Amino acid sequence: MYKLAVIPGDGVGKEVMEEALKVIRVINDRESITLDYEIFDWGSEYYLKYGRMMPDNGQAILQEYDAILFGAIGDSRVPDEVTIWEFIMPIRKNFKQYVNLRPVKLLKGIESPLRLSEEIDFVIFRENTEGEYSDVGGLMFQGDQRELAVQNTIMTRQGIAQLTEYVMKYAKAHHYTKVTNATKSNAITHVMGFWDQVVEEIFANEVLAYEKIYIDALAAYFVERPERFQVVMASNLFGDILSDLGSAIVGGLGMAPSGNINPEKEFPSMFEPVHGSAPDIAGKGIANPLAQIWSVALMLDHLGRKDLHDHVVFAIEQLLLENKTLTPDIGGNATTKDVGNAFIKKLYR
Ligand code: NAI
Ligand code: MG
Repeated sequence: MYKLAVIPGDGVGKEVMEEALKVIRVINDRESITLDYEIFDWGSEYYLKYGRMMPDNGQAILQEYDAILFGAIGDSRVPDEVTIWEFIMPIRKNFKQYVNLRPVKLLKGIESPLRLSEEIDFVIFRENTEGEYSDVGGLMFQGDQRELAVQNTIMTRQGIAQLTEYVMKYAKAHHYTKVTNATKSNAITHVMGFWDQVVEEIFANEVLAYEKIYIDALAAYFVERPERFQVVMASNLFGDILSDLGSAIVGGLGMAPSGNINPEKEFPSMFEPVHGSAPDIAGKGIANPLAQIWSVALMLDHLGRKDLHDHVVFAIEQLLLENKTLTPDIGGNATTKDVGNAFIKKLYR
């Protein structure tokens, strides 16, 4: 039996999580796995009531679980830096979820806006606990006017090495033959030069092919020749941007899952769609729940059930191929709930 902490969060996070929970319940009924979940109402509503995003002992509570399933957070009544820095970032950092895994896979039944004939199927690994997303820095004022701002990027040998080693192991285990390193060491000399050096030291004695591509050119290749990639590794900021771009070429944010992984399994890992709370469509019942459901699949893989991961992703593909019950973002006119219900029928017909 596995214990799951479920945090639906805000906006469409709540709507898509309802469908993911339907999937978890039916898996509990039909499979030899038990996912015993508890729902936590933490997030912006909680903040407006209690002045914080989660209880003071929130991390200690979460630590008792085998995995965290997260929806999305973000609310116009709470500053975005509060929702991010008081909730998502501490979970990622304190639980040493230093690997952010984001598959970029064009499923059958989705037409890429690129209209390529080739397959798009690669994985982005984003460094998830240091790098550009640091709160080290500050402002200089003249009177009460901001005149200068500094925000430091922090890279450590350990941080870069542990991600690189995970990427290497993953690539081999999944029979990939090439890894692409996203960098900008020509312009960001200290930090990215160091990043390249540590990455390259680790790849030096490997059979895997390795290439280094500057982030600006890489962004263009994602659009022009995405079929050439297998595994892409990137720093926190570069990986964040690349994975939204990656999602756009395979059906959009409604089709993009992610895992925040603590490979040592010392702490729970967290699975969530790449998208946020989508205030523009929240409450309309039309959010695409497939990224959240696919995130459940990634969680099952992490819990040792690759067979169930594959089963869920296959059922998503079957639903897409039927091309009947899909949300507007991928060309349909169904509701979030319709898609959830239709998905269950594909999963166990
Ligand atoms: P967003 O991802 O919420 O929305 C971007 C666009 O994608 C919108 O047009 C939205 O309608 C669409 N979209 C997102 N999810 C969708 C789904 N499931 N189905 C169909 N369409 C979908 O990003 P945005 O607008 O930049 O941020 C909104 C809020 O979410 C902000 O408060 C932001 O801080 C927060 N956010 C939270 C994240 C998280 O919880 N991990 C990640 C990204 C943003
Ligand atoms: Mg992002």
